[in-house]
Amino acid sequence: GTTRHYKFDIRMQNVTRLCQTKSIITVNGQFPGPRIIAREGDRLVIKVVNHVSNNITIHWHGVRQLQSGWADGPAYITQCPIQTGQSYVYNFTIIGQTGTLWYHAHVSWIRSTLYGPIVILPRLNTTYPFVKPYKEVPIIFGEWWNSDTEAVINQALQTGAGPNNSDAYTINGLPGPLYNCSSPKETFRLKVKPGKTYLLRLINAAVNDELFFKITNHTFTIVDADASYVKPFESDTIYITPGQTTNVLFKTKTLNSNAKFLMAARPYSTGAPGTFDNTTVVGVLEYNSNVKSFTNSSIKGLSLPPLPAINATSYVANWTNKFHSLGNAQFPVNVPQTVQNRYFFTVGLGTDTCPKNQTCQGPNGTKFSASVNNISFTTPTTALLQARYFGNSNGLFTTNFPSFPLNQFNYTGPPPNNTMVSHGTKVVVLPYNATVELVMQGTSILGVENHPLHLHGFNFYVVGQGTGNFNSATDPANFNLVDPVERNTVGVPSGGWVAIRFRADNPGVWFMHCHIEIHMSWGLKMAWAVMDGKLPNQKLPPPPLDLPKC
Ligand code: C2O
Repeated sequence: GTTRHYKFDIRMQNVTRLCQTKSIITVNGQFPGPRIIAREGDRLVIKVVNHVSNNITIHWHGVRQLQSGWADGPAYITQCPIQTGQSYVYNFTIIGQTGTLWYHAHVSWIRSTLYGPIVILPRLNTTYPFVKPYKEVPIIFGEWWNSDTEAVINQALQTGAGPNNSDAYTINGLPGPLYNCSSPKETFRLKVKPGKTYLLRLINAAVNDELFFKITNHTFTIVDADASYVKPFESDTIYITPGQTTNVLFKTKTLNSNAKFLMAARPYSTGAPGTFDNTTVVGVLEYNSNVKSFTNSSIKGLSLPPLPAINATSYVANWTNKFHSLGNAQFPVNVPQTVQNRYFFTVGLGTDTCPKNQTCQGPNGTKFSASVNNISFTTPTTALLQARYFGNSNGLFTTNFPSFPLNQFNYTGPPPNNTMVSHGTKVVVLPYNATVELVMQGTSILGVENHPLHLHGFNFYVVGQGTGNFNSATDPANFNLVDPVERNTVGVPSGGWVAIRFRADNPGVWFMHCHIEIHMSWGLKMAWAVMDGKLPNQKLPPPPLDLPKC
């Protein structure tokens, strides 16, 4: 592979949406951020310079970071943040991944405006395992607040309540014509020629919401998920959680008119009405269009694509079951057939003590919280990876993260009497190359919700999922150990469980968290510390000299 250099100047930029102008944190003044393009096997060297007053880190979401854990990016996990006026060079190689990934800020809620696509092409002189697309188009979904998102999360954490809902969803940064005061320039237009096959690279960068996406009278062929090929299948609707990416082939019709069709995305949620943004972002598919200008009236009379119901949980379960690894001689499935380390984690919401002298607006005067195995993660004050590398936890973290819930209850039944979480910076230690099985069980402690869990540093195989409580006696018999999909983010079903397997072949400290940002802010996160192997190529290299200090 070759080495590709990028420079990311993190700066404020005034951006106008929905008749309001606000100053947002961007890469090089662009929103969404610039596209990173690489071929599999290439090295990326990205210099990030912080020109804003906030602390910044950038995470290359889904990049495996094999032996380059120092470049992973989550604040206080693999690095201290890049402070104002400082810079850091992220240096890593794309190994064994082809498709779409993305990057985003990984500190507080700065990712709400700082995100962009990573396009990974096949190695030189190799091809996709499907028809060569005529054109490739990244489509990145986002979530927009008219107010400053740092103020939104700070207020939520101070009051203990849920955050204010977003004001719009966006496609490539544009909210589209259904929102009040959206100007015609704020509509995403996909201009196509008839009878061609396009590759759409879909990314859900929304802060808090899982989405359905559809284009009226058209269908997609899904070919890749989280930069890993899947057995192609057809669908007219896409479901995508925050953190997930998927590549779809999109064959345009053979028509000679300059027809237009609407595309739309809106959330999937089982949350209580009013607790999430239930609006719809719309874009336009335009055939044979050489029209430069666009007015909102030019789409009058076009029909919205019929999306699944907002709470269509069974649709989501069926969708997840459609994904299988491509699994051929060139792209083999390496799912561990035997397991050395087994874990069972509950994931869900809970409550937390309201500080004295404060009134909290969460459930019954408490604060909202979230946890894994009832532990709400406390963010340390310096990076865990440094502590792990220098072999000195310094009271920064403990290695006693429980492998199983300490208190068992009917996870999907009525809530237990005590809904309070405990706190800690606890990690699971894994020996190098251990084979791991993890069952994640959603809880219904404060209502049922889907939690898109994202694991850094690995792809995992999704070997099973189900509704209700996981049954360790009967459910494993139905695990798919033949062609399970390989992903970095998977939804723990609303009122159900999911089982994943992976091999701990990447030394480092790897964050795992719900990619719904408010759940992560409430503590639905933990970390795995993977130890070095014996051979030189099984060890974490020393930290780069410019690694930021706390
Ligand atoms: Cu895309 Cu830790 O996140």
